Amino acid sequence: MSEFRKIAIVSELPPLGEGREFVVEQRTICIANENGKYVAMNNVCAHRGGPLGQGVVDEGKMVCPWHGWQFDLVTGKSEQSATLGVDVYELKIEGDDVLVKI
Ligand code: FES
Repeated sequence: MSEFRKIAIVSELPPLGEGREFVVEQRTICIANENGKYVAMNNVCAHRGGPLGQGVVDEGKMVCPWHGWQFDLVTGKSEQSATLGVDVYELKIEGDDVLVKI
């Protein structure tokens, strides 16, 4: 059963337009900052396993740094494949804590 888990503190979140990688419960999660709104998704790119959290945000998509595949920040669906995508997780901030539902 998924539940909210602390993944970071607010000061660790990525700057505007960037992603960052965080590890929680032995999983690596990408948090993206789109215009001050934070989104959490699986860090492992559905193309060939690239680190999405090392990529950038572009027009509502997380862009993988390896080959440029793009994943929608709401649905996790890829622009490049009708079948491949990544999981998107609920994220909330409580005080100084960043929580992700995994
Ligand atoms: S591994 Fe992400 S685009 Fe290829």
